[in-house]
Amino acid sequence: MCGIVAYIGKEQAFPIILKGLKRLEYRGYDSAGIAVLNDDSSLNNYKRSGKVSELEEFAAQHDSTGTVGIGHTRWATHGLPNNINAHPHVSSDGEMALIHNGIIENYDSLREELMSRGYVFKSETDTEVLIHLIDDIKKNEQVKTAEAVRIALNSVIGAYAIVVLSKDNPNQLVAARKSSPLVVGIGKDGAFYLASDATPIIEYTNEVVYMEDEEIAVVDRNDGLRIFSIQDKEKVPYIQRLELKLEAIEKGGYEHFMLKEIHEQPRSIKDCFRGRLNVDEGWVKLGGIKDYESKLAKAKRIIMVACGTSWHAALVGEYLFEDLARIPVEVEYASEFRYRNPIIDEDDIVIAISQSGETADTLAALNLAKSKGATILGICNVVGSSISRITHAGSYTHAGPEIGVASTKAFTAQVTVLTLMALSIARKKGNLDDTKFRRIITELELIPDKVAKILEQSEKHEEISAVYKDARNALYLGRGNSFPVALEGALKLKEISYIHAEGYPAAEMKHGPIALIDEEMPVFVIATKGPSYEKVVSNIQEVKARKGKIIAVITEGDTQVKAIADHYIEIPDTDENLAPLLATIPLQLISYYVAVMRGANVDQPRNLAKSVTVE
Ligand code: G6P
Repeated sequence: MCGIVAYIGKEQAFPIILKGLKRLEYRGYDSAGIAVLNDDSSLNNYKRSGKVSELEEFAAQHDSTGTVGIGHTRWATHGLPNNINAHPHVSSDGEMALIHNGIIENYDSLREELMSRGYVFKSETDTEVLIHLIDDIKKNEQVKTAEAVRIALNSVIGAYAIVVLSKDNPNQLVAARKSSPLVVGIGKDGAFYLASDATPIIEYTNEVVYMEDEEIAVVDRNDGLRIFSIQDKEKVPYIQRLELKLEAIEKGGYEHFMLKEIHEQPRSIKDCFRGRLNVDEGWVKLGGIKDYESKLAKAKRIIMVACGTSWHAALVGEYLFEDLARIPVEVEYASEFRYRNPIIDEDDIVIAISQSGETADTLAALNLAKSKGATILGICNVVGSSISRITHAGSYTHAGPEIGVASTKAFTAQVTVLTLMALSIARKKGNLDDTKFRRIITELELIPDKVAKILEQSEKHEEISAVYKDARNALYLGRGNSFPVALEGALKLKEISYIHAEGYPAAEMKHGPIALIDEEMPVFVIATKGPSYEKVVSNIQEVKARKGKIIAVITEGDTQVKAIADHYIEIPDTDENLAPLLATIPLQLISYYVAVMRGANVDQPRNLAKSVTVE
């Protein structure tokens, strides 16, 4: 987590960095800071706890001029989110400043060593060891900043994306990465931009270099960009062209990114299957994994690793792969999998699902599986992300940038890719007959319009939200592939409205959660038509018998649940394998409206970050 931005060029650095930090706030918003070197060689470092807007207000009263600078928005790991712990951190002599995203695992031993050499630490952060270490090496070894960074990083254990600004060379910034992402933008007239992702860069240039692990980049007004490995080997920068559009990262008239992203789903689902599905000709194909289709078709089992919402998508994937392709699937929390000494071998296929493609645990789980010889595949949204680069192959979700911290369109795009994958493997294996295959792909093509139809009912969602906005707890129930939808609904509500919510398999409710039910408890039930419909109706009756309030998601035309539910939302009928793509939408909308009615910060919920690059 944490977002970093740096600029060197002919323009004023402060406004460029500030704007960039606002774009990266999804990565953390506990504190923000910017250091700028002005024409008189003064290093002005402004730091504020809280959001970037607070830093903006504070810095407006001070000199922030200068054409080179570095900035940071923090998600606190070590130390409280106060002004002192905010980045940039400055060397004891005030000559250098540094920003960091990641965690220095051996910071304790480095700190002790540096303290014994007379360094005084001001903050509680792990990051501060880096600036003192670089400073120490620079002075003792009489080397330049870039070389000092290189030597320092050889004794650092952990994850980092850093940028260092030094007064002794105002024409240069030195950056490095390992595990945390870093992109270099190559601007006009010798300008360079460095950032955790491309969003702060896109309006200035579409030429970027995604840095690899253990690389150091030196951007210099006179010498341009040079890239070295931390073993000191010079490399040729691989320049890529970004296809990201500026409109995609703006709110486009919506009050919040989350609402915009919920409403983008008809388009994002369509973009996801565009070119991968042809109903008239009757085929599905995922170009990115075509070389691995035979292996997938022969697989004895598939392991899916993910975190958060992506883990819920993996659970939907399990139903799809098992039902359609008849391949056993194990769904694992990446953070558990990596520390469990899992049994994996060359026959295994591990699929990582990640919106950002940067989640530290998912990345580590994949590396572990790769080291044991498994084939590793990725389903990512962010193009060029770390996961998409370390996997043998993969399929992008093409949902476009997702900025709201609570994931919405990325989830439905992940489920769409998983559906396409399951369908193509099922066909390859020959265990999906023509009639069923055609029915599913025909229905899949209709999903965007059906999502749009649900989105038209926003008033109904608002009405229901108004009734339950003050609830203290909520229960979400579903069976079969609606169970992950229930989990996702509960996660959305707790993430952004801070109402405690639990997702449960509907039948499991009687083994505990039923004790919580009283007339105050809203119970959201996914009761769409499908094999467990009658069973879910019985579960609803059990809730009603205890005076719980039922908010049911039902299939259009249903009369049975409609008659007993306190509230209902109708969604269009579809193939049961595709139902999660529709049933999720009302739950996203209700979470959104409840959070807005409670006055919560929908796009930046407290304590959360979108891209979790620490374990
Ligand atoms: C964070 C985000 C979630 C996301 C999860 C996994 O917790 O707030 O929205 O689902 O990380 O992220 P990934 O990028 O790997 O999908």
